[in-house]
This record gives sequence, C-alpha cells and structure tokens, in this order.
Amino acid sequence: MAYRTPSEIKTVGVIGAGTMGAGIAQVAAQAGLNVVLFDLSSEALERADAGLRNSMDKLVGRGKLSATEAEGICARINYANELQAVAACDLVVEAIVERLDIKQKLFCDLEEICAPEAILATNTSSISVTAIGAALKDPARLAGLHFFNPAPIMKLVEVIKGLATDARVVETLLALAQGWGKVAVAAKSSPGFIVNRVARPFYAEGLRLAEEGVAEPERIDMLIREAGGFRMGPFELMDLIGQDVNYAVTCSVFDAYYQDPRFKPSLMQKELVDAGWLGRKSGRGFYSYDDGKPVSANLDWDEIRFGGFFNISSAVESTAMKSLLDRIEARGIEIPSRTQGVDGEIQFNNGATLVLTNGQTTLERSLEEDNPLLIQMDLALDYGSCQSLALSTHPDCPEEVWTEVYAMFDFLGVKTRVVKDMPGLVVMRTVAMLINEAADALHYGIANAEGIDAAMQSGVNYPVGLLAWADKLGTAYVADVLDNINLFYGDDRYRLSPALSQRALLDAPFYEANSL
Ligand code: NAI
Repeated sequence: MAYRTPSEIKTVGVIGAGTMGAGIAQVAAQAGLNVVLFDLSSEALERADAGLRNSMDKLVGRGKLSATEAEGICARINYANELQAVAACDLVVEAIVERLDIKQKLFCDLEEICAPEAILATNTSSISVTAIGAALKDPARLAGLHFFNPAPIMKLVEVIKGLATDARVVETLLALAQGWGKVAVAAKSSPGFIVNRVARPFYAEGLRLAEEGVAEPERIDMLIREAGGFRMGPFELMDLIGQDVNYAVTCSVFDAYYQDPRFKPSLMQKELVDAGWLGRKSGRGFYSYDDGKPVSANLDWDEIRFGGFFNISSAVESTAMKSLLDRIEARGIEIPSRTQGVDGEIQFNNGATLVLTNGQTTLERSLEEDNPLLIQMDLALDYGSCQSLALSTHPDCPEEVWTEVYAMFDFLGVKTRVVKDMPGLVVMRTVAMLINEAADALHYGIANAEGIDAAMQSGVNYPVGLLAWADKLGTAYVADVLDNINLFYGDDRYRLSPALSQRALLDAPFYEANSL
C-alpha cells in the first residue's frame, strides 16, 4: 500500500480532546495543518477550544505569536462530534481512554471510513502498539506517535513501530514530527517504549535510598539536582507527576516485563498512594504544599568543627577527578604533586584519602584496601560547578580526619554530608542504574544509542545523554560500580545489561567518538 508521505499529509484528525488530544491538535495546527478534533463529549470539545484560546492569548501576550497567527491556528482546528468528520484526514492520531478494547474498536471504525492510504497513529503510553494493530485489517498502517505532556511544550515524540507496522509509515511520522519542531525518535513496541522504561531507576533508586535511610527525600532531591545536574530530584518529580500515576506506570512496566526485579515497585510509594498523599495535586506527597508550593525543610549540612583548614599532599588525576582538581587550583590551593592515573584520588596530609565511589560500601573498600582513612565521594556531573555532594566514611574514621575533607569542600562552596554507608552513594547509584537501563534498551534493539540519549534529554530533560555519560565515566567503571552494588545486595535488580558488560571488558564506548 502507498501510504501518505509527509508532503501529502495536509489534514490531521485527532480523536479525544482531553489533555493530550487538545495539545496534539495545537501542535499540528501551529505547524500549518488543518485539524479535525473529535470527542464523544461536547464538554471536552468546549474545554479544548477554551484551553487553546487561552494558550494562544498567552503566546500572543509573550510576543511568541502575532494575533493574526494565533487566529489562523484557532481557525485551522475544527471541532467535531461525529467520527465521520475525520473521514478525509490523511493522518488520524488517537488520544482517548487508555483501554485496549476501546482503542481497537475505534481503529476498526476508522478503517471503515478513512482512505486506505491514510496513516493511523496511537498516543498510547502503555498499551502495545502491536496489540492495538492486531484488530485491524491492515495493521501495517498503524504506529505509535507518543507525545509527552504538555504536548505543545515537550520536545520529544516517540514513533513506535509495532510488529506489523510498515517501515515507511514510521519514516513518514518521524519526518512529520520533525517538521513540527519535535525531536522524533524511533522505538520498537515494548513496555514503556524508551522514556517510561529507561527512567524507572531514577525513581526506584531514590525511593530505595530513602527506604534504606541513606538520606531524606529532600536531601536526595538536592544532591540529584546540585551534584547530578538533573533539573528536578526524583521525589519532587514524583510529587509533580502524581504518586498514583507514577506508581501505576512502574507497576505496569514491572508486570509487562514479567516482574523483572529491575522494575520492582516501592512499598514506600505504595504507602503514599494508599494514604491519598498523591503529591502536588492533593496538597501532600513527599512534600507538603502550601498554595501549590512545596514547604521546604531547612536541611542541615555538616559543619566544620576542627578549624576549617586542610592540607593536600598529592592528587592523582583521573578523567572524573580532573575538574575537581582544577577547581581547587583555581582557588589558589597548590597541589604539591598532581599526577595522572586511572584511579583518581586526593591525599590529605592527615592521611585521609578521597576517592570516587566504586559501588562498594566505604567499610568494604577500606578493609579491602587496608585504609581506614578512606573517604568516598559521590558522582557529580561536573565537579567544577557542583554545589553539594554526598560522602561516606569508614565508621571508625576519626572526626579530625574527615573534617579536613569537609573543610576543603566548604572552601570550594560545596555543601557536603556524610550519608549512611550504602553502596554507590546517591548520584552514582542512580546514574549507573539509568545507564544500565539505557544499555539494555539498546541491547534489545528498542532504539539506537543516539535515539535513547535524545529521548531522555528531550523527554525528561536529563542533563546529558546516558550512554554518552557512560562513555565519559568509562564503561568499565560503570560496570564495576554495578557489579559491586550487585555483590553487596545479591539482588538481580543490579545485574549488568549484556550491552554494558560486553563493552566493559574492553572499556569500549557506546559511541565511536565521545559525544559529550
Ligand atoms: P483524558 O482523559 O484527558 O482525555 C481523553 C479524552 O478522550 C476525553 O475527552 C474523552 O471524552 C475522550 N474519549 C474517550 N473515549 C472516546 C472514544 N471512544 N471516542 C472519542 N473520544 C473518546 O486523557 P489523556 O491524558 O489526554 O490521555 C489520552 C491518551 O494519551 C491515553 O492513551 C494516555 O495513555 C496517553 N498519554 C497520556 C499522557 C498524559 O500525561 N496524560 C502522556 C502521553 C500519553
């Protein structure tokens, strides 16, 4: 079948005028296409119309659009309460209730009324595109076109290929979405597609760290933001998404992967859902909200109790350590001996050795390296600019030893905190698990490396691509961290993805040239 090509798509039908359908209609109309927006409910259509006019007014008010352009966009959207109205559309995008039977029935009806060359697409976030297509006479014309909320703002669109989807349909949708100003990424139909699968550890590790008492949710959020470089921490983000919605996505991905422990839901989150503490929308989640704003606890950070001086005797510069050493020297501190090496460290005059966490507990590593004065620090996206950092020590490390390390970070303007000695600290454990999930999505051919990285950067605003981050840290290092965490817990959740373990053997990167 010669399905419609991008240039032949002039009119787009959108089914369902709720949160997503209204947003998708706006995106298509802003790109200059004619849109027919259909919903069974006339109130939904009225709400969509009012919502669109409101966003147009805001865009005009901010000078992003002229009044004439805004009027043109509104005029290009026709509201319909008969499905027949989409009969002449070249592409129909479905954004109705998340139920397989109802979606299948809708697509069978669309098959009856639309031209056989017209492309059909679903915005489902959790139902298999292959399963929806199975009800069609021609499943090759159906693909997933997965927008993120709010559709006019979020850049990412995942284009999902079901088992029977024609490759040309995927190509057309990729080109079309790119033409609409989106970052369009192709993915294979699989539970959670790219973003909803690869992002799971972001929430799961945060929850587990809080459950284990490594740090409080608010401190974990701060570390993930200020050291990890993420725009939001996991707890504030779960509160924003809604604990019920986030928990439901986790459960659905967990079940869809036949209860793989990597996706195991958290009892801590279930408690919140059971209590009705759903986050921002219910006024309470991990945070309490006053007038929509989180009421922040005043987090205490460790104080320098021993005079605040420090003396560095030597340092070994690894790739990860370089920006920290540069920051120290830029503040006028002389490092008497700075050499290059694979395992970075800063040696203090009082015997303290500061190293990057390798996924072992500090107790374990101190015993293994026979150095009770070992202090592990967490990963930072950029030590040159990070503002807070977690540390962990041997339980018998004398205060006068670790306070010198504090003093150094305090001097640099970095808030530090010794957290409970659990493997991988906060940012390293989260990032290593995110990298592992990205590697696994690559391993199973869900998308290519560029697609996975682009999806996480534009779908959930990650500061850098995860696979590019792995290359910067070294795949062998990331694998070592995960192996050590796995050894400590003996939990299959931390097992290495084959795509990571194979590369780690040669410390080979995911990209030919480092793309960070
Ligand atoms: P919504 O509840 O805001 O809107 C659904 C609309 O579909 C309602 O207006 C309803 O009247 C209409 N509808 C239901 N059955 C219909 C039918 N048979 N024919 C015509 N109209 C029908 O839902 P929302 O959030 O917009 O989600 C829609 C789809 O988009 C779902 O598949 C969801 O999984 C997916 N999605 C949702 C995201 C979100 O953040 N809300 C993000 C990405 C995808």
